Amino acid sequence: MVKMTINGQSVDYAGDPEMPLLWYLRDERGATGTKFGCGVGLCGACTVHVDGYANRSCQMFMGDLEGAKITTIEGLSEDGTHALQKAWIDHKVPQCGYCQAGQIMQAASLLAENPNPTDEDIDIAMQGNICRCGTYQRIKSAIKQAAEEM
Ligand code: FES
Ligand code: FES
Repeated sequence: MVKMTINGQSVDYAGDPEMPLLWYLRDERGATGTKFGCGVGLCGACTVHVDGYANRSCQMFMGDLEGAKITTIEGLSEDGTHALQKAWIDHKVPQCGYCQAGQIMQAASLLAENPNPTDEDIDIAMQGNICRCGTYQRIKSAIKQAAEEM
């Protein structure tokens, strides 16, 4: 049995320890805000927080998550009013939207560690999150707005 919390709820997991966290979130919990992109840790679409830090859920395995505190986009705020979520709306960031949950979770991890990031800090923190639609400039503007508000 592996015990963890997901979005504040206690979870006792007794399934395959090799199951990726991403599979568990989407297929067994219905938390489909977290997306499958590449499956090999290269795109960032599957980014969630594990113990407060951004991690690629496709590369984390259920058997390794004893005691972990996991937060997905569904748990970032109760009502979608995290400063980043509001800034994403203000700046009309998404196009297709597929990458955006991962982008927001990565940005939230950045701002938790560094409340006043420079452009370079943002570039470094966000460089592993790919957007096929090229929304990078709007993402950066939204992160700056959220940093000011937080
Ligand atoms: S799906 Fe996990 S990094 Fe691409
Ligand atoms: S908004 Fe389409 S992949 Fe980023």
